[in-house]
Amino acid sequence: MKTLTIIQPDDWHLHLRTGDILETVVAHTSRQFKRAIVMPNLKPPITSVVEALTYRHQILQALPQESEFEPLMTLYLTNQTTIDDIKQVAICEFIHAFKLYPAGATTNSDAGVNDLTVIYPILEAMQQYHVPLLIHGEITDEACDIFDRERLFIERHLTDIVKEFPTLKIVLEHVTTEEAVQFVESTPANIGATITPQHLLFNRNALLVGGIHPHHYCLPILKREKHRQALVKAATRGNPKFFLGTDSAPHITNLKESACGCAGCYSAFAAIELYTEVFEKEKSLDKLEAFASFYGADFYGLARNTQTITLEKKNWEIPSQYGRQENLITPLKAGETLSWKMK
Ligand code: DOR
Ligand code: ZN
Repeated sequence: MKTLTIIQPDDWHLHLRTGDILETVVAHTSRQFKRAIVMPNLKPPITSVVEALTYRHQILQALPQESEFEPLMTLYLTNQTTIDDIKQVAICEFIHAFKLYPAGATTNSDAGVNDLTVIYPILEAMQQYHVPLLIHGEITDEACDIFDRERLFIERHLTDIVKEFPTLKIVLEHVTTEEAVQFVESTPANIGATITPQHLLFNRNALLVGGIHPHHYCLPILKREKHRQALVKAATRGNPKFFLGTDSAPHITNLKESACGCAGCYSAFAAIELYTEVFEKEKSLDKLEAFASFYGADFYGLARNTQTITLEKKNWEIPSQYGRQENLITPLKAGETLSWKMK
C-alpha cells in the first residue's frame, strides 16, 4: 500500500467556536494537527488577553484525553484596541497575533474596523513589538462586486499598509485570487499567506452550477478557475510565503441550508487528506510536508514539530454529517470519496 509520512502539520487558520460543537471540531483538528491559530470571531469577539486565556482553557477542556494539541490564540482588532493591548499580547506566550476584520466583511465581523487609517498607530505598535497582523483581506463597500473584494482590498489598503509598516509581519489570510498570489510573491519575507483546501479544490462553479451548493459558500467567495490554478501553483511550488490554513469554519447544517446561509466550509475532519489530494493531482507530493508542516512555523518563528503522521492511499467515504443530533455539521465533500486517509 502506498503511504506518505510527514512531520505533523499545523493549521494556521482555524475556527473552533464554543458550546456543544467545540468538542466535535477540536477532536477533528487535534487528531491531525499539533497546533492551530484559533480565530477570535466569537459572539462577542475575543478582544482581551483575559478573554483569550479563558477561551484557550475551554478549548483545552474540550480536547480528547491525552491530546497534545496546542491552541495558538489571537485577539480581534477593534477601533478600541489600545497600544497597551499590543504590549500585553507581545509578552503573552499563548497569544500569537491580532486578527483584522474590516467591519461587515464576514461572519461576526461587526466589531471590526471601519477605517483602516484610524488604526495606523496600533499597527505601528504591532510592528515595534513584533506582533503579527492577520488580515481578512476584503473591502466591504456595498457597491463593490463580491468577486472583486479581495483584489480591491489589496489595491486600496494592503499596498499602503505594507509600505507604511515595512517590517510588520502580516498574513493575508485565505487568499483566493491570482492578484493576491502575485502581491504576496512581490513582497518581502515578512508577508505570508494561508491557503484553504476549498480554494485549491473548487472554483465558483462548485457554488452555483446545477443549483446552489451552500456547503461551498465561504468568504472570500470561490473565484474563477484561473484563480484556483494560481493558488494551486502557489501552494505546490515550495514557496515558503504560502502555508496551510484551513479556515475550517463550522456552522450547523440548518444555518447553512437556509434562505440566508452562513459563510464557512467545514474541513477539519480531513483537512490534511484534502490537501494531499491536491498535491498528488499536481504531482507535488514532495512539496506537501513543507507547506503543511514547516513554512507556517518558520513564519511565526515557532519550532517545527517533531512527531510524524502517516497517510495511506485508501478510498473512504466522507460521512454526510458530523456532530450531535441538534448540532449536526455537514463536512466539505459530504458523501464523496477521498483517496487518502490518515492512519
Ligand atoms: O467563510 C468564512 N467563514 N469566512 C470567514 O472569514 C469567517 C468564517 C466563519 O467564521 O464562519
Ligand atoms: Zn476564517
